[in-house]
Amino acid sequence: PDYTIKVSPDATGAKISKSMYGVFFEDINYAADGGLYAELVRNRSFEFNATDASGFTGLTAWTVDGSATVVNDDQRLNERNRNYLALNGSVTNAGYNSGIAVQKSDLYDFSVWARGSATLKITLTGAAPLTITTSGDAWRKYTGTLRGTATTDRGRLSVASSAPVKIDEVSLFPRDTYKGRRNGLRADLAEKIAALHPGFVRFPGGCLVNTGSMYPYDAANNYPRARSYQWKDTVGPVETRATNKNFWGYNASYGLGYYEYFQFAEDLGAMPLPVLPALVTGCGQNRATVDEALLRKYIQDTLDLIEFANGPVTSTWGKVRAEMGHPKPFGLTTVAIGNEENLPEEYFANFVKFEDAIKAKYPSITVVSNSGPDDQGGTFENLWAKNKANGSDMVDEHYYNSPAWFLQNNDRYDSYDRNGPKVFLGEYASLDAKFANSLAEAAYMTGLERNADVVKMASYAPLLANIDNVQWKPDMIWFDNDESWGSTSYQMQKLFMNNVGDQVVPSTVSGGGVITPKPVTGAIGLSTWRTAATYDDVKVTRPDGTVLFSDDFSDGNADGWTPVANRGTWTVANGGYAQTTTDTEDTMVKAATITDTDYDYTLTATKQ
Ligand code: AHR
Repeated sequence: PDYTIKVSPDATGAKISKSMYGVFFEDINYAADGGLYAELVRNRSFEFNATDASGFTGLTAWTVDGSATVVNDDQRLNERNRNYLALNGSVTNAGYNSGIAVQKSDLYDFSVWARGSATLKITLTGAAPLTITTSGDAWRKYTGTLRGTATTDRGRLSVASSAPVKIDEVSLFPRDTYKGRRNGLRADLAEKIAALHPGFVRFPGGCLVNTGSMYPYDAANNYPRARSYQWKDTVGPVETRATNKNFWGYNASYGLGYYEYFQFAEDLGAMPLPVLPALVTGCGQNRATVDEALLRKYIQDTLDLIEFANGPVTSTWGKVRAEMGHPKPFGLTTVAIGNEENLPEEYFANFVKFEDAIKAKYPSITVVSNSGPDDQGGTFENLWAKNKANGSDMVDEHYYNSPAWFLQNNDRYDSYDRNGPKVFLGEYASLDAKFANSLAEAAYMTGLERNADVVKMASYAPLLANIDNVQWKPDMIWFDNDESWGSTSYQMQKLFMNNVGDQVVPSTVSGGGVITPKPVTGAIGLSTWRTAATYDDVKVTRPDGTVLFSDDFSDGNADGWTPVANRGTWTVANGGYAQTTTDTEDTMVKAATITDTDYDYTLTATKQ
């Protein structure tokens, strides 16, 4: 059937802003430590503990030869970095994933804080060793450079002492970080993000901003570890940043903090968009504070953040920014308050207090409000009604749904109130990671652009995932310790983000009819990533429930399943189809003829 598309080149549709598409960076899936943050040493300040995750200790990621004790006493490096290591022997750090990635000929910047007199021998696999002499009973930072003489992704870093000595904040960075920044970002990951040409960077979360206790890090509260994300904890010299439990169940060093986020956004040419906690914990925690003094502190912290980003070097927080190396303002224009807030009354009562205080001091700052956890049910409606009545600038919406939902809801914003708050689609993704998902997202994005007068910004989520530490799927960019690759959704986002239009040209579609399906011959595949796997009871089902084919391999044959780009061996074993390698991705496929055009087939298999 023919379709007729009529384009009206002279008519004017919505203008599309250059910052329409951006990225949302959250420290989920080890996206910061062990990911974008280029630090190679895991648990560098011996602060890990069981509050972060079950089984974590001050020596997680370290192995000891001789004597090494984690100590927390008044000889500590500083009040925020409370543990140090009393060493008489050697300790070895395992880094992230399979180890520390070392590249032949590349330079690595080592540093350690030490107290006491000793000779330290620093050994990095695939690099010539380094000797450092420490002296005196006061903490001092010692530095040195290592050069890779061989390439490995399984490196280890050892510190061996000739005599008893206290050490802390053991650090190793590749010299080659993104844009060569000190305390910088892993180049391949940052470059993949930069290749998107994002218009904005939303950070640091997500549910992350709602972590645990609402109380700050201080002695009066017994230095709470599982505390909400406070931007002030993440600035200043890295050895003075207290680590915290991350919402996603691990430790956050805060080495990648607010200064680094602003710097990254600037390096990308993107607008920074920080999300601050509203003192109501969404993301399933469902608690609101009744502590007015604490609320005033959070509001003041938000004002201070704007000063940190934009204030003159003579201001209290502008001075901190300048001391960290950036006297020029970062040009912050927009802040968001809260994330997926599911207590509408409590959230909104707090939101208007934040908004009033921000607008009173900084009238030109855009304040983004929230619409709750998703678009289902009363919270969303209730918060939208409140935001409209309040005249909020913009509302943050999130949804993770099936590809079918994205196709069926392409017109979602066609009917949004043109006089109400603007929309920031801060998080979305179609669930699963097939090419069809990316097509559904692309189709949906045409609906966002068509409504660019209402939808001002949109970011796919989550951005990053370390293959060995996954709390959430699908994700845009995947990585291990030395490689990274984009999903099909990454490629789709890149396509849109690199080709943002200026203005919508209105068009209409007519005609069409029933499409008669033609048989399509293709292949259906099962993949395994770096783990040996056995599949059984494989079944491919049409949306109407009819089974295209199924196999339980009980006849002992492979039945048309063939390996592709095979690294290991696929065999019929133990009543299933088994793959043996643990090296890299392995796929086996079966040819299939599909006689309708609905792509939404379901493949199920039991993984033994
Ligand atoms: O993007 C992952 C999570 O999804 C975010 O932390 C949260 O805001 C949402 O529920």
